[in-house]
Amino acid sequence: MATKYVNAVISEEQNENSLPVLDGTLGPSAVDIQTLYARHSLLAFDPGFRSTAACKSAITFVDGDKGILLYRGYPIEELAESSSFVEVAYLLMFGDLPTPAQRQQFDLAIGNHNLLHEQVLSFYRGFRRDAHPMAVMVGVVGALSAFYHDVMNIRDANDRQLAAIRLVAKMPMLAAASYTYSVGRPQRYPNNKHDYATNFLQMMFGTPVQEFAVDPVLARALDVIFILHADHEQNASTSTVRLAASSGANPFACIAAGIASLWGPAHGGANEAVLKMLMEIGSVENIPKVIDRAKDKNDSFRLMGFGHRIYKNFDPRSRVIQGQAKKVLAHLGKDDPLLEIAMRLEEIALKDEYFIERKLYPNVDFYSGILLRAMGFPMNMFTAVFAVARTAGWVSHWLELQEESHGIDRPRQLYVGKTLRHYPGGK
Ligand code: ACO
Repeated sequence: MATKYVNAVISEEQNENSLPVLDGTLGPSAVDIQTLYARHSLLAFDPGFRSTAACKSAITFVDGDKGILLYRGYPIEELAESSSFVEVAYLLMFGDLPTPAQRQQFDLAIGNHNLLHEQVLSFYRGFRRDAHPMAVMVGVVGALSAFYHDVMNIRDANDRQLAAIRLVAKMPMLAAASYTYSVGRPQRYPNNKHDYATNFLQMMFGTPVQEFAVDPVLARALDVIFILHADHEQNASTSTVRLAASSGANPFACIAAGIASLWGPAHGGANEAVLKMLMEIGSVENIPKVIDRAKDKNDSFRLMGFGHRIYKNFDPRSRVIQGQAKKVLAHLGKDDPLLEIAMRLEEIALKDEYFIERKLYPNVDFYSGILLRAMGFPMNMFTAVFAVARTAGWVSHWLELQEESHGIDRPRQLYVGKTLRHYPGGK
């Protein structure tokens, strides 16, 4: 069969074949193909969604060619410098920075909902002690839907807001408990005298028998990590949350689906994979061998923490994370050889034709593992930290989706299987 083509011409003239072009406030315009099938019996084919705007969104903007990331219009570098995670969570959820009174109310709401139901803590004992924290989080966050299902109506804006706040508020204790359970330590509760990041640190690393010594440099570094990971428009986990939510599913179950998607090494699991890779490299002399492996088409190995579906330039978050990693290591008086390997690897890769041609730059995960390790986080908690932060983005997209009315998301397919055939011996 001869290949056929659709020749799209963008013009201001309209005829019976025209499809409207929609303009956003920033970024590329989008062809509105919603009527394509009804009018032309044609589907759009875009596996991997490389050219698909799956929805309209007013939350986060990424310009991957220029290396720009904006939350509700504010550059990520400015928020990382001057804001706090809780303020950013408010911004993402409600659209604007809070006034002092709104901030106070939001803090109060987070403080009112940051405890876990005691019965939830008993779930942890059902997991193997060596279970990966992300496996535990998928299970426990999903299980929260059993606690807050009958009492919430997703058609009610107040109930929706409460569910979103509950998720952001409870996530630090949920994540910390997946770690303390694995090391057999009793779980501390949040303390409302602490800010969000400090509370997470004290629940992770504190014990009930001692006052927790707050290190403001580490608390600020964690807050910055949370800000940088809070949202990233329609990434795999956020799209998973939106798809699950489009059926009207319980928000806790939707966020559990997002956590599952985040876990993979091509997404949030990359920071764990980066650190493992740096450890395997072991010393600067071994870098050329690793670069050769990454370039070898017959080897499935990829340079972890490099490349991004959207960024074809520096990921603006990677620069901020690198700065924080250096700051924390200097503050702790530590000298991590992995930082030197990472910086040298970046330098060599960025001069290599293979990486230049494909526009492969370090992404947010390249330095975040080094920073989290310096702060004392075990490697298997890295993605769980990411999940705590990304919950702010997931619930913001969930809230935004509930305001829309396009119904259930139901992609179509290009069927390439067998055509009709009959069961042998049948009539
Ligand atoms: N190392 C070596 N080569 C790479 C890498 C890498 N890290 N990333 C992409 N490439 C190559 C591919 O082999 C391909 O080469 P080819 O054109 O010769 O076939 C080309 O660059 C384009 O790669 P794609 O897979 O088409 O790029 P895509 O946009 O689909 O992938 C991804 C993006 C998944 C992030 C990829 O770059 C990757 O696997 N990186 C490593 C994992 C990682 O760091 N993930 C974290 C992403 S950030 C986040 O989720 C927070």
